[in-house]
Amino acid sequence: MSQANFLTGTDTEVGKTLIAAALLRAAAAQGLRALGMKPVAAGGDEDVDALVAAGNVAAPRELINPYLLREPLSPHLAARRDGTAIDLERIARCFGELRGRADFLIVEGAGGFRVPLGDTHDGADLAARLGLPLILVVGLRLGCLNHALLTAEAIRARGLPLAGWVANQVDPAMACVAENVDTLRARLPAPLLGVVPFQDHPNPAQVATLLELPE
Ligand SMILES: Nc1ncnc2c1ncn2[C@@H]1O[C@H](COP(=O)(O)OP(=O)(O)OP(=O)(O)O)[C@@H](O)[C@H]1O
Ligand SMILES: [Mg+2]
Repeated sequence: MSQANFLTGTDTEVGKTLIAAALLRAAAAQGLRALGMKPVAAGGDEDVDALVAAGNVAAPRELINPYLLREPLSPHLAARRDGTAIDLERIARCFGELRGRADFLIVEGAGGFRVPLGDTHDGADLAARLGLPLILVVGLRLGCLNHALLTAEAIRARGLPLAGWVANQVDPAMACVAENVDTLRARLPAPLLGVVPFQDHPNPAQVATLLELPE
């Protein structure tokens, strides 16, 4: 088995890194060579550290994270402040070098699906350039149904498959969690890979036990 997925979310801070790390651990536990990529990080490289820690394949940091922008802004603004521009072809080359090293590769997007990466391109263009099936992390909180359905529509509009979605409870006080998950199960055209309750101490290895790998 050799597969790669682009992991996006309904927003920033919805648990993309936690779920990506958990999926990598689940794949590694099955004996697969697991590797995470974070092409664009803005305002710190904790996501890169988390993905590296969860994978089991060594790779040069500059391939895993070709763009590390200084400020925690939308990538197009952070890149402008750094005097640089995000080049999708450079990311595609890095991805191409990583792909052969892993059986299971996850590319974590920045922010949500349509986050601008430059004046003329965004996260959806990157996913389309890499041509990868999507995994959608839905951060369960009030408003997430609309965000999830809009994201699925945007993914479909790019002609990309949605390989699966994860319901991740980021709001400990969210009401009607099961009903919200059922609502999305009925409307999203992809399998639910797992429901992750709010964690007092989020831990990718533990979350891994709650997830199925995408087909
Ligand atoms: N199920 C959960 N229960 C409790 N806390 C969670 C859960 N999922 C994520 N978190 C916490 O929410 C915060 C954001 O999660 P995470 O960094 O994975 O989001 P992200 O979508 O990757 O954000 P970014 O857009 O910055 O990459 C982290 O502190 C994480 O530990
Ligand atoms: Mg992240």
